[in-house]
Amino acid sequence: MLEGVKLIKLPRFLDSRGNLSFVEQLNHIPFEIKRTYWVYDVPGGEARGGHAFRQNQEFMVALSGAFDVVVDDGKCKQTFTLNRSYYGLYVPSGLWREMNNFSTNAVALEFGSISYDERDYINDYDEFLRLKKNGEI
Ligand code: TYD
Repeated sequence: MLEGVKLIKLPRFLDSRGNLSFVEQLNHIPFEIKRTYWVYDVPGGEARGGHAFRQNQEFMVALSGAFDVVVDDGKCKQTFTLNRSYYGLYVPSGLWREMNNFSTNAVALEFGSISYDERDYINDYDEFLRLKKNGEI
């Protein structure tokens, strides 16, 4: 098991007029939201997000369609399939993560705990392993 990674079931208001779900910071999302972004129009077979963050924590929702999130702490890997808009995946900082298996029309909504900063990215897997081994992330 990966420490800290959590699949969180979100509130759902089922209604014949259409369903509604929501998230609140410091409640369902265990951090203050500094940024929201989304990934869409992913061509079949493509993967996104092969990297780790030093600081940024994330919360991901498959608003539409489905995709897999592979989370890796340098020792073990776990795959989470997001295919319902009322589930969110919390990913703490310091973990390698990749998103793949996007369905047609998948929309990945992601909330981040810090503003965009390219220096927060670890894009090299060997570097990630080294930092992990040295306890630097
Ligand atoms: P990136 O995080 O590398 O996407 P993914 O992890 O899904 O492959 O981001 C792709 C590009 O978008 C990158 O050039 C930086 C830019 N970007 C921002 O400017 N702000 C943001 O908040 C994010 C997430 C990306």
